[in-house]
Amino acid sequence: MEHNLKAMIAGLGYAVPDKILTNADLEKIVDTTEEWIRTRTGMEERHIGDESISTSDLCTEAAKKAMAEAGVEAGDIDIIIVATVTGDTPFPSTACYVQKNLGALNAAAFDISAACSGFLYGLTIANNLITNQTYKNILVIGSEMLSKITDWTDRTTCVLFGDGAGAAVLQPSDGTRGIFSTYMASDGRLTDLLYMPGGGSRKPATHDTVDQKLHYIKMQGQEVFKAAVKAMGDAAVNILEKSGISSDKLALLIPHQANTRIIKATAKRIKLDMSKVFVNVQKYGNTSAASIPIALTEAVEQGRLKKGDYCLLVSFGGGFTTGAVLLKY
Ligand code: ACO
Repeated sequence: MEHNLKAMIAGLGYAVPDKILTNADLEKIVDTTEEWIRTRTGMEERHIGDESISTSDLCTEAAKKAMAEAGVEAGDIDIIIVATVTGDTPFPSTACYVQKNLGALNAAAFDISAACSGFLYGLTIANNLITNQTYKNILVIGSEMLSKITDWTDRTTCVLFGDGAGAAVLQPSDGTRGIFSTYMASDGRLTDLLYMPGGGSRKPATHDTVDQKLHYIKMQGQEVFKAAVKAMGDAAVNILEKSGISSDKLALLIPHQANTRIIKATAKRIKLDMSKVFVNVQKYGNTSAASIPIALTEAVEQGRLKKGDYCLLVSFGGGFTTGAVLLKY
C-alpha cells in the first residue's frame, strides 16, 4: 500500500534529573524488595528530581537538544505542545513556561492532558496541524515529574514512577520519512483506576484534602494492568490493519514503558519478536508522557532505528487513554 507521509520527526532529545533512585534505595523507604520490583515490573532504577527542578525545566532541556538536531532556532517554532499531568502550575500551561525559557516568541503554546498517551496525542495533533495548516516547525514534548505527586509511603505506587522529558521537532515530510497513520481512543468509564483526586474543581486544595493525601496518585494496579494489556494490543492491531502493514515490516516497536510484562504481551499480540521491541523501563521506570520520546531518542542514538525504518509507537495511560502512531522514521 502506498502511504501518504505527512509530518516527520526532524529532531529528538531527552532530559532526566541527575539523581538516581535504585530498587535497593526503595527497600529503605517502603516494605519492598529489589527482587519484587524487578520481577513484577522490569524496573531497576529511575531518575527523580529535587525541589529545584520543575517539569518545564526538563522540557526546556529536552527541547533544546531536539531543536539543535533539527537545526531550528527558537524563533522558528510555530507551536509548542506539552503533554503532561504534572505541569509547573494548574495554569498557565507548562508550554507557556517553556516558550519563555526558549524565547520562542513566535509560537502558540498549549498543554494536553492524556497521561501516558500524551506524547502520541501530541504527535497526532502536530501531524494534523502540519498537514492542514501552514505550520513548519512544531515542538511536541512529553514531560512528567510524577515523583511530585507520589505518596512515598505507598509501596504499591512509589516504586513505579520516574521523572523525565522527551521532545521532538515535527516538520513537513521530505517525501521519504514521516507519520502515515495515527490512532487514538479513550474510555472514560475507567477514570477511577488511576487518578489524583485532589487539587481540581471537585476537591480543591484544603488542609483537609492534604491530610487525606488526595494530592497523590491513586491506582488500582491489577485493574490497570488488565486494561493496559487489552488497550495496547487493540491499538497495535488496529493501526497495523488499517495501514495494511504486517508486523514483520516493523524495524522497531516502541511501547509506553510501564511494565515489561505489559510490553511483552503487546509484542505477543502482534507476533513480534522481543528483539524488535525497545525496552528501557529498567533505567527510567514509568515516566508517563515522557516514556515514548525518551525511548525513541535512545533507540535512534543506539542505532536501533534508522532513517526510513518502519516504527510503531503504542501507549496507554490514565483516563483511560490509548494511542498509536506508525511512522517511517
Ligand atoms: N513490594 C512488595 N510487595 C508489593 C509491592 C511492592 N512494591 N506492591 C504491592 N505488593 C504486594 C501487594 O500488597 C500484594 O500483596 P498481598 O498478595 O499480600 O495482598 C502482592 O504484592 C501482589 O500485588 P498485586 O497488585 O497483585 O501485584 P501485581 O502482580 O499486579 O503487580 C503492579 C503490581 C506492578 C503494580 C502491576 O499490577 C502493574 O504493573 N500494573 C499496571 C500499573 C501501571 O502501569 N500504571 C501506570 C499506568 S500509566 C499512567 O497513566 C501513569
